[in-house]
Amino acid sequence: MIVTTAQLFKHAYGKYALGAYNINNAEQAMGLFKGCIESKAPFIIQLSKGARKYTDKRMIEAIIRAADQIFPEAIFAVHLDHGDEETCYDCINSGFFSSVMIDASHDPFDKNVAITKRVVEAAHKKGISVEAELGMLGGVEEDVKVEDGHATLTNPDEAQAFVKATGCDSLACAIGTSHGAFKFKGKQSLHFEVLEAIKARLPGFPLVMHGSSSVPKDEVDRINKAGGAIKDSAGVDVNEYLPAAKLGVAKINIDTDGRLVWTRVHREFFRDKPAEFDFRAPGKVYIDEYAKFISSRNKLLGSAGQLEEVRASLKK
Ligand code: G3H
Ligand code: 13P
Ligand code: ZN
Repeated sequence: MIVTTAQLFKHAYGKYALGAYNINNAEQAMGLFKGCIESKAPFIIQLSKGARKYTDKRMIEAIIRAADQIFPEAIFAVHLDHGDEETCYDCINSGFFSSVMIDASHDPFDKNVAITKRVVEAAHKKGISVEAELGMLGGVEEDVKVEDGHATLTNPDEAQAFVKATGCDSLACAIGTSHGAFKFKGKQSLHFEVLEAIKARLPGFPLVMHGSSSVPKDEVDRINKAGGAIKDSAGVDVNEYLPAAKLGVAKINIDTDGRLVWTRVHREFFRDKPAEFDFRAPGKVYIDEYAKFISSRNKLLGSAGQLEEVRASLKK
């Protein structure tokens, strides 16, 4: 069942975080739904602009609609990740998305406010939730690369003013993470003091943490042993997910880790079975391994075991 992120956040806020997982194809969809059903967790599917273009936006939407039928007990939101204004309107008008992210974080504050306000107005008319972003994460997104040293943490006073001015439903804050597999040069560090300051100014308001993959060392070691060359990778400490959730982070975005699972499975498979050429065999291994990964993350986020309570909360 597709619900809005606002409905999910209402139940989660201050207790646990929803896993927001990026998918691109049928194998990822199967693994994601299986893992969330196994761990009895509500969840958020996110589609980036790149994911919608990878085959055709109608293809990934059809895959999710099919998964909804295959797993009728699932409760999830369908969310546009890092949308520009045009893509937000496309998703708002699609009749499929229950939530969109407008990411105008690279624009000056006033322009970010103006763009976000327009998207909020259009989305709310159709009962769709809006995530906005303030502050700049380091690393690479599809069209934007933030160079080292140019990332900026979210200013708590600005966050308060931004939410008031735009009417957005949740806010992605920069608290020290970045996208991809190379998040920290020195010591890993989330800026909990920034989260605390934002929560003090916006009590009860759902915050979002992007760039939250943990980039597991054992996963990267296995990839490298099977012929990969991923060097100096570093991710978020998974033991910091729940403390962040208690400080108002209701959505935690994980994409890179799923790509690492895919790479490990396929590198090991073809290393060990060099005569194989049927994609279905490693594909099946990947579905099961991704499901296991998702289930493990839902446990760390605290969303595991919440499915039936969320179902009951939706009836109220
Ligand atoms: O923030 C970026 C997400 O990880 C999506 O990545 O744009 O390569 O699909 P993508
Ligand atoms: P990771 O690159 O850490 O998985 O972050 C994903 C993300 O923030 C998607 O919006
Ligand atoms: Zn992101």
